[in-house]
Amino acid sequence: MEDWMKDVPGTVLQTQRMLRQTVPDLAGRYAALDAALRDEVRAVRAEQAAGGAVPQVAFADVAEGRVDADTVARIKRRGCVVIRQVFDRGQVDDWNAEVVRYIDDIRYLERMKDKAGLDKYFSTLASSRPQIFSLYWSKPQMQARQHPHQAAARAWLNRLWTFEKHGVRYFDPDRQFNYADRIRRREAGDATLGLSPHSDGGSVERWCEPTFRFVYREVFEGDPLAFDPFDAEGRTVTREIPSPAVCSAFRTFQGWTALTRQGPGDGTLRLVPVAKTTPWMLLRALQPDVPEGDLCGAQPGRALGASAQWHQTLLDGLVSIPQMEPGDTIWWHSDVIHAVEDKHGGSGYSNVIYIGAAPWCAKNEAFAKKQAAAFVEGRSSPDFAPEDYELGFAGRAMPDDLTPLGRRQMGLEPWN
Ligand SMILES: [Fe+2]
Repeated sequence: MEDWMKDVPGTVLQTQRMLRQTVPDLAGRYAALDAALRDEVRAVRAEQAAGGAVPQVAFADVAEGRVDADTVARIKRRGCVVIRQVFDRGQVDDWNAEVVRYIDDIRYLERMKDKAGLDKYFSTLASSRPQIFSLYWSKPQMQARQHPHQAAARAWLNRLWTFEKHGVRYFDPDRQFNYADRIRRREAGDATLGLSPHSDGGSVERWCEPTFRFVYREVFEGDPLAFDPFDAEGRTVTREIPSPAVCSAFRTFQGWTALTRQGPGDGTLRLVPVAKTTPWMLLRALQPDVPEGDLCGAQPGRALGASAQWHQTLLDGLVSIPQMEPGDTIWWHSDVIHAVEDKHGGSGYSNVIYIGAAPWCAKNEAFAKKQAAAFVEGRSSPDFAPEDYELGFAGRAMPDDLTPLGRRQMGLEPWN
């Protein structure tokens, strides 16, 4: 832990004062970013009204290298993309049935009471029927992670980033680290938990931690309109406040794979499909109307929230993602503001496996070692609460169930 993290409120106060004094032409910079954001939100709303602001491509076009430059430019501007039909329908229906069986066989709902309180992030969720299941090692999850189509989709997504500069390679776009995340199984009518709009991977750190200020150097020192969210320089070496609610891996995109049909109103994902929103949020917190010591509500060790009080300009661009079919995937840049609808007002379960794009780099390799040990023993991922539902459960995936590619992606075998 860095020294400043021992006194976060003090550092927030000092950093905010320092930035208010030292950022060149703060008012002019903010005005430029504010005008640019308003233009983007206007464009998003127009695109949404005309059929959808979230870009969509077919997996076959990704695999065959047929996605044209205009579409790529649009994806990079919107910071998100739906990749359709990554897996075929029969395969995904089998995975879905197996996931449902896994939850039942592990007696998840009965055992939840004993585990109550372990998961502090979601501890306010006092429901007996959760929508997020702390399960990491089912066979369908491992199969979906190690599937060659998933690798092809993620290599393509990673290559939207500038991953090499000045002869330095920040990550390997073609090798994946299989970051183990959980399962969502949300039943119709569920209103237990929406997630309010937020961006993962750092909150107050984005202002206070020098490694983050480097990522956003254009915002604080250079040309804020030139900030490139797809420049990987600095991204793989950021230092976060240790927290069970924060992802320890570097992800180019967060994402999930749909196991069932789900659309707007079904308790699904909402996004502000604008890749460049962080610069505006950073300078918003330095404006004169924000009290000293408050970075527009940013809380250490949590996701960075976007609130109606401070960020309405941005939230005006919040849209639901389009209808998803089984085997479709959604991906959003790790800076992109996202939320989950409060209520599942549709019919049927909306089930997903969370699978993001985490390319191989030193940071992910270090985490892979810890994660591999948890996998072999059947414990929860070390990035989440130690609920250990799968410990001692024979039906979970074992190293022998993985393909050679899957074992490499888990750090169980070396890449060569
Ligand atoms: Fe999130």
